[in-house]
Amino acid sequence: MTASRSATLGDELFVAGRLDEAMAAYRQALALSPGFAAARVGLDAILERARTRQPNEQLIQLLIDAYADNGANWEAIGWGAANQVVIGWPSDPTPEAMAGNALLIEFLRKSLNRDAALERKLLALRDATAKIVMQPSPPDAIVRLTEAIAEQAWLNEYIWPDDPAVPDGPAGAMYRPQPAPRPEVVEERQLAAGLTQIAPITDSVSQSVAAMYEANPYPRWTHLARRPSVDVRAALMRDFPHATAVAFDAPLSVLMPGAGTGQHPLSVASAYDNANVTAVDLSRASLAYGKRMASRYGVANIEFLQGDILDLPKLGRTFDHVECVGVLHHMADPKAGLMAISQVARRGAFVRLGLYGEGARRIVVKARQEIASAKLPPTLDGLREFRRRVMGGGWRRLVKLTEWEDFWSASLLRDLCFHVQEHRFTVSRVREFLDGSGLRFLGFEFNAGAVQRAVDANPIALYRARFPTERTLSDLARWEQLEREKSNLFPGYAFVCQKQ
Ligand SMILES: C[S@@+](CC[C@H](N)C(=O)[O-])C[C@H]1O[C@@H](n2cnc3c(N)ncnc32)[C@H](O)[C@@H]1O
Repeated sequence: MTASRSATLGDELFVAGRLDEAMAAYRQALALSPGFAAARVGLDAILERARTRQPNEQLIQLLIDAYADNGANWEAIGWGAANQVVIGWPSDPTPEAMAGNALLIEFLRKSLNRDAALERKLLALRDATAKIVMQPSPPDAIVRLTEAIAEQAWLNEYIWPDDPAVPDGPAGAMYRPQPAPRPEVVEERQLAAGLTQIAPITDSVSQSVAAMYEANPYPRWTHLARRPSVDVRAALMRDFPHATAVAFDAPLSVLMPGAGTGQHPLSVASAYDNANVTAVDLSRASLAYGKRMASRYGVANIEFLQGDILDLPKLGRTFDHVECVGVLHHMADPKAGLMAISQVARRGAFVRLGLYGEGARRIVVKARQEIASAKLPPTLDGLREFRRRVMGGGWRRLVKLTEWEDFWSASLLRDLCFHVQEHRFTVSRVREFLDGSGLRFLGFEFNAGAVQRAVDANPIALYRARFPTERTLSDLARWEQLEREKSNLFPGYAFVCQKQ
């Protein structure tokens, strides 16, 4: 059997819920062809979901192997790794013993922890490790453990509580940024200074939003996972067969407004067939981060421009495809942003958008109220104090926020609960938003993910059962009706439109 056939078999078994067999098929594909991206993605999806009640040696080895593979998705497999680390945590977790736990070391260095129980254990381990590493000539294994915990602290942007009794140096690096900047930071400062600007930012909300992301570029990420290449227009035509077929000359010009630190744009630039990506953002620090990662991964088909979405028409260019996720709800007038995007999209271009949902974010609204009344500042100290209250029980009604992926680092948490500007949508607001924009709604995209837990029903199945004659699933009036009947239907709104 070829690697491709094994990976396809793995996908079929995965969909059928036969995960052990799917895992074997993916492993066979990887044995035949170690870099085979489709098999890597499939195996990582299983490792992401793998939960056992007892430590499982086979899973642990597969996770360690995945951490040794630069093409694996370390963010995804971190969920499965955290489960194995927690359930295998010994009753007497001395730093000496934990330093020998290969999965723990890899997890700390490569995946952001998003597990409250594991965080408590790691904090105790950090304090015990600090005591040893501060002594003269600490053992090498303890130095390696200290470095791994410090790397985790870098990943979470020092969101864990500080301890001023631990001085700067190797131990202090587990608690706070060190006085000498890391080499990445120095490189980003240089790259930021050299970015091309579309136009000076004049909108006052855009200025405040820019300041926020200059201080906390979103998100901090360290690793570009390998993905199978995809003809995105063909894939979207398959998903939305009612779209209008329009042919564009290669290469596809892709616009990504609100690019952040480049995680999404670089995955697009490296996976979409024959595409050139233009990444635009207000924040120079965010773009510089993306630019550094582009050169680290040798991704050359991407340019980074600083500017406001409102000024996109000043580029004097049009684009064949647009992806703008998690951005427009942070503008003073999201519709003005949408109109600017529509203006630079060519006829027939697909526009993929992601917007906050009112229903799913009720808990965030409560958090924002608490933050305002307690006058918590959006600084590292304010973020740490917020977490102390939420995780320590003072603000118990917010504890479910720990189930959100964005709870676990400073930039993620600031974005989640301390944002200077956020709008939230309903289907009815999405409909008004698109009205008169020149963009035709093609359909929602429902991807598995943590926010999905907020949803209590399968929206597609509900729609089909309720409106069996409307097969395109693209009638916003019907979705609106469904949402009125079931208020918690959407985790947020991820959808695709087409420029008319
Ligand atoms: C939550 S982050 C999302 C980043 C990225 N799209 C992602 O999904 O990882 C929002 C980004 O949108 C950018 N942004 C917000 N308003 C913008 C505007 N008016 N023009 C350009 N970028 C904007 C911010 O600077 C920030 O980097």
